[in-house]
Amino acid sequence: MRCKETLLAESRAYERALSAFIPESDRPLVHLTPMVGWMNDPNGFCHYNGEYHLFYQYYPYDTVWGPMHWGHAVSRDLVRWEYRPAALAPDTAADEGGCFSGSAVPLDDGRLMLVYTGVQKENAEHPERQAQCVAIGDGTDFVKSEKKPVMPAALLPAGYSARDFRDPKIWRGADGRFYCVAGNRHETRQGAAVLFESENGLDWRFIGELDASRGEVGRMWECPDFFALDGTHVLLVSPQEMEGDAALGFHPGNNTAAVIGDYDETTHAFTRRALQPVDEGFEFYAPQTTLTPDGRRVMIAWMEDWETQAGKARTHKWFGRMTLPRELFMKDGRLCQRPVREIETLRSDSVSVQGALIDGDAAFRGVQGRAIDLTATLHIGNAACRRFEMRFAEDERHYTLVRCDLERGAVTFDRSMSGSRRNIPHTRTVKADCADGRLTLRLILDGDSAELFVGSGEHTVSALIDTPLTAEGISFHADGAIHVDIEKHALKK
Ligand code: FRU
Repeated sequence: MRCKETLLAESRAYERALSAFIPESDRPLVHLTPMVGWMNDPNGFCHYNGEYHLFYQYYPYDTVWGPMHWGHAVSRDLVRWEYRPAALAPDTAADEGGCFSGSAVPLDDGRLMLVYTGVQKENAEHPERQAQCVAIGDGTDFVKSEKKPVMPAALLPAGYSARDFRDPKIWRGADGRFYCVAGNRHETRQGAAVLFESENGLDWRFIGELDASRGEVGRMWECPDFFALDGTHVLLVSPQEMEGDAALGFHPGNNTAAVIGDYDETTHAFTRRALQPVDEGFEFYAPQTTLTPDGRRVMIAWMEDWETQAGKARTHKWFGRMTLPRELFMKDGRLCQRPVREIETLRSDSVSVQGALIDGDAAFRGVQGRAIDLTATLHIGNAACRRFEMRFAEDERHYTLVRCDLERGAVTFDRSMSGSRRNIPHTRTVKADCADGRLTLRLILDGDSAELFVGSGEHTVSALIDTPLTAEGISFHADGAIHVDIEKHALKK
C-alpha cells in the first residue's frame, strides 16, 4: 500500500529510474509516448513561458490504465519533446480515485493553473463521484488548491450526473473571466457539454449547456473543447457508445465529433449548424487544442482506442502515444486539419517526382521509408484511371493500402494486410472531394503510426499498424493512365 503523501515523489523517482532503460530507438520519432508506463488523453495543452506544455493521463507503474497521474512534457516547436517530472498524483481525498483529464491556463501573476477532474471514491456518505479541482504552480511543481473541489456536481441543475462529470477545458474570455466546459451524461439528453464561468478560477457558476447528444451523438461526452475558429465556433467532444452514421462518417463505438455553430458570447447560447467526425481512423480519441503565439489553433489527440487497446501486445515499457499536433482551419463550413508546419524542420532526403504517368504498377527511387512525410497529388481531370492505390510499409508479406475510388469520390484505408492478427476493424472509408481535378493525399508515417490527410485535410485517418519496421516499400497502382506528383521527405531528428 503506497502512502498518499509521497505518491507524487514516488512516481517521479520511478519514472526517472525506469525511463533510463528505454532507448530513444524504442519510441516513435515524433509521436509523443509516456515517459514510462501508460498514457491516455492529452491534458493541459498550453503555451507557457516560451514553451508548449503537454500533460497526459498517466500511470507510470504499468502499461495498462491505473490510478491516474498527470505526466508532463515540454517542447519549443511541438515536434521535439522533453519529459518533465510527473505533475499530479492522486494523493488527496478529492482525487484519490484518480486525477482525470483537464486543461491549463496561465494566470495574470505568471503562474500556471491546472484544472482537472478529481475522482472521489465511494464511501459511507456518497457513491463514486467526479468534480473539478485546481492545482497552481510554476510549470513544474503544482500545489493543489485548498478548495477541493472547486467545481462540485452540486453546481449542476437536476438531471445532470455527478458520476459522469469530467474533463474541464478552461480558457480566458475577452472579458478576462475564466470559462470552462466539461463533459456530462444527462438523464435524458445523454452526452452533454456544460459551461461554467468564474472571476478567479476558484469560485464557479453554472451557465448552461452548450449542446447535447439528443440521443444521436453518444451516451457520454468526454473531453470537450470549445473555441472560435475562422469566424465560427467549434465544440469538440469525444462521444462514447455512438451508433454508426455512414452519411456523416461516424463508426460505431467511441468517436470524436466536432459540432460547428454560432456562439453568442453575451447569452452563451451555442447553435449547432453542422456535425462531423474529427478523425475517421481507428486510433484517435480525446483531442485537445491550444492557441499558438502566432494564432494557430493546434490540436493533439490520444492515438489509441479504448475498445481495441486492451488486446494489444505490450511490446515496450510504454504504451499509448499522441497524434501529431495538427493545425485546424475551416474550409467551406468543414473543420479541416494539417500537420503542424514545424514538422517541416525534420525533413531531409527529399525526393520530388513531378507529373509521373502511372498506368499499372509503379515505384520510384528513393520513395520509401518508415519515417516519412509524403504527399501524392493525383491529377484526375482527364485521367483514364478510376482506381488508384498506394501501398506503404510494404515487404513480401505486408502492406497497408490507401485506395482511391476516383469515380465515387472515396478513399479507403485498409490495414488488413499490415500484419494484424486480431479481429478488429481494419478498413475505413472517407469521402474525397475530386471536384477540382486534383486529389491530394498526405501521409505521415512514423514507424507504426500512420496519419493520412485527404484533400485539404477535410478528412483524416489515424491508424497504428503492426508491420515490422523493416517493411519500407512504397508502391503505386493505377487501373488507367494518370499523372501524379510525389513529394517525399524523410523525417529525422
Ligand atoms: C477519456 C477519459 C476521460 C477521463 C480519462 C480517464 O479517454 O475516459 O473522460 O478523464 O479518460 O483516464
